[in-house]
Amino acid sequence: MSKDKDIVKIFDTTLRDGEQSPGASMNTKEKIEIAKHLQKLGVDIIEAGFAAASDGDFDAIKQITRVVDKSIVCSLARAIDNDIKKAGEALVEAKYKRIHTFIATSPIHMQYKLKMTPDEVIKRAVESVSYAKTFVDDVEFSCEDAGRSEMPFLKEIIDAVINAGAKTINIPDTVGYRLPMEMGEIIKELNEFIDNRATISVHCHNDLGLASANSLFSVLNGARQIECTINGLGERAGNASLEEVVMTMKIRKDIFKNMDTNINTKEIYPASRLIATVTGIEPQPNKAIVGKNAFAHESGIHQDGVLKHKETYEIMRAEDIGLSKNSIVLGKLSGRHAFKDRAEKLGFDLSDEELKSAFERFKKLADRKREIADADIRMIITDETTTIKDFYKLVNLQLADCQDGLATAAATIEFEDNKLTDAAVGDGTIDSVFKVIDRISGYNGVLKDYRVEAVTEGRDALAKVIVKVNFDKETFIGHGLNIDTMIASAKAYIGALNSYLSMKKVK
Ligand code: KIV
Ligand code: ZN
Repeated sequence: MSKDKDIVKIFDTTLRDGEQSPGASMNTKEKIEIAKHLQKLGVDIIEAGFAAASDGDFDAIKQITRVVDKSIVCSLARAIDNDIKKAGEALVEAKYKRIHTFIATSPIHMQYKLKMTPDEVIKRAVESVSYAKTFVDDVEFSCEDAGRSEMPFLKEIIDAVINAGAKTINIPDTVGYRLPMEMGEIIKELNEFIDNRATISVHCHNDLGLASANSLFSVLNGARQIECTINGLGERAGNASLEEVVMTMKIRKDIFKNMDTNINTKEIYPASRLIATVTGIEPQPNKAIVGKNAFAHESGIHQDGVLKHKETYEIMRAEDIGLSKNSIVLGKLSGRHAFKDRAEKLGFDLSDEELKSAFERFKKLADRKREIADADIRMIITDETTTIKDFYKLVNLQLADCQDGLATAAATIEFEDNKLTDAAVGDGTIDSVFKVIDRISGYNGVLKDYRVEAVTEGRDALAKVIVKVNFDKETFIGHGLNIDTMIASAKAYIGALNSYLSMKKVK
């Protein structure tokens, strides 16, 4: 990257704000895999979680610091000593680390939520930044609800925390209220005030669908860090989406003159698929950049134009985001080398053990499915690298005819090197499958959501089942992949149980 480029840092909060999306909780193994992809994508800062939120969050951040050595790993912390201490402890092993502490600065939040006076808020903010500096040098401070805060107060608190050592000042539009030109004006004024004493960051929510536009207007007015998420995941309507802000800056170089990001845009699509698979939240089909239809041309006039000259209806190429069509389809006769090569092209960096196991699954599938598409391979590998294998593992499942809605399932499940077999009757096949797992494991899950998707087209498509199950009133996601929907369902349910047990083990 040329030295005279003006770099806008990308701060990815998929693992923190993204995980706050309803139903998007991820297990530690999934978070580690995502963090590795984010680093590969070129994200400057990975907000790996909120260390004080739970033992699971703390452990996930700690484990991420062991596999990420290029990006800065960051933990969120309220402006409370215990939160900051936890963040500092979780980050101890990180090569590059940051604590991101925040307190609300809008009149409505200070009065009703914090019940603190503005002076008390400033004092707490300064104490928190100073305390965070005892753990790390790189401290970011956020004025929560800055979008609805008063400018004189913002300046006062920002000045105080910069003097206490904050290097990045984040201006969140927490409730997604501002319009692009308003956000631009706020950042312009703060940029003049801060006068290069700290980096200005923005964190825009999407309640009015303006998060990406607000972030980009902020950049045009002096912000040099954007907080965003893959697929725009996040609290409520989500955050600014990484792919939108990055691709806009790339495509509209005429406006974002001399500015750049460190993102390798060819890793955008693989990262998007990984997040969608792990969270079970698919981007809407018409989602900009990564939606299923983002590069599809349905109308005859458009198709004709694109065939004659691509640029007639396309402002970017699918290859730029890593979405390329491979002409060679893999199948039964494809060897390990071809599989490894395709996995690498799809953005996976597999250890020898992961490759061996994923290849075995590929071979099994190829015995039953003639053509293995990229989507199948992506699924097989994601399933392989993110599935928690400890605890329970499905060995065998047999189903008896379903009569008048009553069905019987018999299963063998491995647990601590023992094979346990039992049978159960349920109201319908799915119920019998989940009941037999409950009987064998001794846990009683409450099913909250159940979805089946076909990975590709055709009758022999792989079935992907996503379940959300409550254990001890907490929700866990499980994924199952198989050409047989019932086996995929059993695997998904066991996956959710394993996630729950791994959480319990951390505690
Ligand atoms: O939206 C928000 O204000 C946040 C802060 C914690 C940065 O997520
Ligand atoms: Zn947020």
